[in-house]
Amino acid sequence: MLMTQTNRTRYSGPIRQAETHPHTLVDQGFASDESLAAILDRYPAELFDINLYDYDDEGQVSLRTGARGRLDGGQLLEAIQQGRLWVNMREVETGWPELWAAAMVEFGKVAEAYPGLRAVRNAGQLILSSPKARVPYHFDAAGVVLFHMRGRKRVFVYPGDEAHLPERNMEQVVSRQTTEELPYTLAFEQDAQVMDLEPGQALTWPIYAPHRVENLDRFCVSLSMDFQTWPSRFRNGALYTNAVLRSRGGQPRMTDRMGTPELAARWAASLALKKAGALKSRIAHFERDFEPEVGVADGAGALRN
Ligand SMILES: [Fe+2]
Repeated sequence: MLMTQTNRTRYSGPIRQAETHPHTLVDQGFASDESLAAILDRYPAELFDINLYDYDDEGQVSLRTGARGRLDGGQLLEAIQQGRLWVNMREVETGWPELWAAAMVEFGKVAEAYPGLRAVRNAGQLILSSPKARVPYHFDAAGVVLFHMRGRKRVFVYPGDEAHLPERNMEQVVSRQTTEELPYTLAFEQDAQVMDLEPGQALTWPIYAPHRVENLDRFCVSLSMDFQTWPSRFRNGALYTNAVLRSRGGQPRMTDRMGTPELAARWAASLALKKAGALKSRIAHFERDFEPEVGVADGAGALRN
């Protein structure tokens, strides 16, 4: 049971809990089969991530990744609708500018509900996912507004406290030292705020709050918009600097004991450290495991090169 809805997440920004807001992207026609098949046809292949997640009885995840393959837009759409795929089209701001422009108008309306929320950078990913797809427990080092456009999905949002979101793991993710997201156990489920999303609803949650998603037996389309504020930028920079200090044997203080001047100084330090190449990304380039195919198990066919 939730004892309180306030301060579930440390340094949450002005969004104190998960909340839905209306949006009009569906009414504007962006989620129809025709629109989606057309955009799949012309979306740059290098901006696709195609994932297939498997879970064991303890809720631990394993991941297979797909290549874009050679299906045309309509066939790829069919493979997603029939399969068990999670397709992420990155950089909507460049890949589908018409949707992006409309989404930024909607973002402005959502932001009005949160006095003090000032986004300094927005980016978006269009997510097309199969009826039984599930996204594992993770956090985004940003604020998020999830514009749900088609199907039904259940979003689980957890407190962003040290128990659910350890700063050491945040450092690792922010500095790209691991593809592991966060430690997860089924015991976290009793702490979740659970929201079912219908098309036309946008969901937002406290900045950094961990979350996971289950599709509810329908093909789903969502635009996931992330945004940075100055406080999140300072925080991410401080986490990066702490990751560097830790890699050199230091024991940096937790960022939630730092005031704004110290966070800003650590953010400034992170810019210099990044420029100097202090930490190399350890995220390997994935070997692809499959490519989408219609009429095969999970929509995942053999690679054909
Ligand atoms: Fe996320």
